[in-house]
Amino acid sequence: MGDSLPSCPPEQTRTNYLLQDTIMTEPLPELAAIVLAAGKSTRMKSAAAKVLHPIMGKPMLAYVLDTLQELGLGETVVVVGHQAEAVQARFANYPVAFVVQEPQLGTGHAVQIAAPALNERFQTVVVLCGDVPLLRGETIRQLYQEHVASGAAATVLTVELPEPGSYGRIIRDAQGLVLKIVEARDASPAELSIREINTGIYCFQLAFLKEALQTLRPDNDQGELYLTDVIAAARVRHLPVAGLLTTDQASFQGINTRVELAAVAAQVRQQINDRHMLAGVTLIDPQTTYIEAEVVIGADTVVFPNCYLQGRTTIGEACLLEPNVKISDSRIGNRVTIKMGTVISESQVADEVQLGPYAHLRPWSDIRDRAKVGNFVETKKTVLHAGAKANHLTYLGDAVVGANVNVGAGTITCNYDGRHKYQTTIEPGAFIGSNSALVAPVTIGAGAYVGAGSVITEDVPPEKLAIARGRQVIKDIRKK
Ligand code: UD1
Ligand code: CA
Repeated sequence: MGDSLPSCPPEQTRTNYLLQDTIMTEPLPELAAIVLAAGKSTRMKSAAAKVLHPIMGKPMLAYVLDTLQELGLGETVVVVGHQAEAVQARFANYPVAFVVQEPQLGTGHAVQIAAPALNERFQTVVVLCGDVPLLRGETIRQLYQEHVASGAAATVLTVELPEPGSYGRIIRDAQGLVLKIVEARDASPAELSIREINTGIYCFQLAFLKEALQTLRPDNDQGELYLTDVIAAARVRHLPVAGLLTTDQASFQGINTRVELAAVAAQVRQQINDRHMLAGVTLIDPQTTYIEAEVVIGADTVVFPNCYLQGRTTIGEACLLEPNVKISDSRIGNRVTIKMGTVISESQVADEVQLGPYAHLRPWSDIRDRAKVGNFVETKKTVLHAGAKANHLTYLGDAVVGANVNVGAGTITCNYDGRHKYQTTIEPGAFIGSNSALVAPVTIGAGAYVGAGSVITEDVPPEKLAIARGRQVIKDIRKK
């Protein structure tokens, strides 16, 4: 039939996974950003860089960089250090510049290295950390707007916490301007009792920042260069520093441990699930539904509990996903029924297909309209053309299965001789009897019929019957 194996990996639509309720507002090309992501993050107890840890399939740092990109900033410089190469490689196709901080001598040192990398034309820069995935773009925009409106040299985003813990404390003067920021470990008991804390997110006049960075000294408990000391440096110069108290407590939630990672992931997961439900997808139990950040799902699709939808997966409209379905990097059409326990990876599935229960579509499976892949059927690098059926207990690897072919229970394509893989072609309308072994390379002609239990080693011409098994004999039972 002149058809070959799927030209996979399946073509994927690059999806727009922005939250649908994102307010599209004016871009901010006049604002630059510095993202701090060089720290070692000892408390993660990980060989991998903290900012590469995934949250619903997307690295932590990607949330921050995507938020900045949505804001349309003029330039973003990311400071890397610990695992610098791995971080840079992962974000190679992001429109950001990297600077390497080695060794890491503190947040002030990190910004000292990043600031000269910014284009001279910028007057204002926002500084934030790479470990705050929940930070909302609107919070940055508001910080920037307040900063410009107040004319301050620096504006610090702050929150009030009932238990301010190890965060830096905000010390204000009688006029309410920020005097300085004191790290908890360097604070007096009176300062420690202050509940307004430094989120680690700031807006600076760039010229002031560059100048003030030169004045930093490591005269603190950690012997580091603290970015927070830039605030006091402003006041020494009689420049005003503003503090913007936000109510958005989630926005700055930094991740330092895997406990915090899980807590933030739960929030992100809920946001993703809410977005899908509001867009017309039924999630029977959102608490036990795991949909990664980039997944797209059409309206009226119903997802039962304990499904995992991962990577660049797209699912069409009015599909049914029974419990325990796991799909990664795959494209599913409309009105597809995926029964319990089915696993699909790097594959494409057309409209009105039925899969499972317990089907396994391995990479490069290409299941066309109305085809059926039933229980305990495994496919790999295989096309099932429209209306083809493999309903029970079958392995199809490196196979092209023509339209309306019926593959009987227990059929196996013997595609591997221990060294090489070979193709099986079953032309349209053929019928493969149960428990047959098709030893590849082999072609079953259109409309041909293979008798049950056959081991087929030679091509079967169209419209012919092939039987390849020992003939049944009937014998008397010898009496003892
Ligand atoms: C910092 C602030 C603190 C604030 C808190 C908010 C300072 C001195 N303190 O404290 O006031 O309440 O954030 O979360 O800034 N990093 C580098 N290079 C370095 C050191 C750190 O890139 O040399 C990065 C880290 O990867 C991290 C961020 O900067 O993403 C913050 O560093 P961290 O050491 O966690 O600062 P905190 O002690 O949390
Ligand atoms: Ca921190």
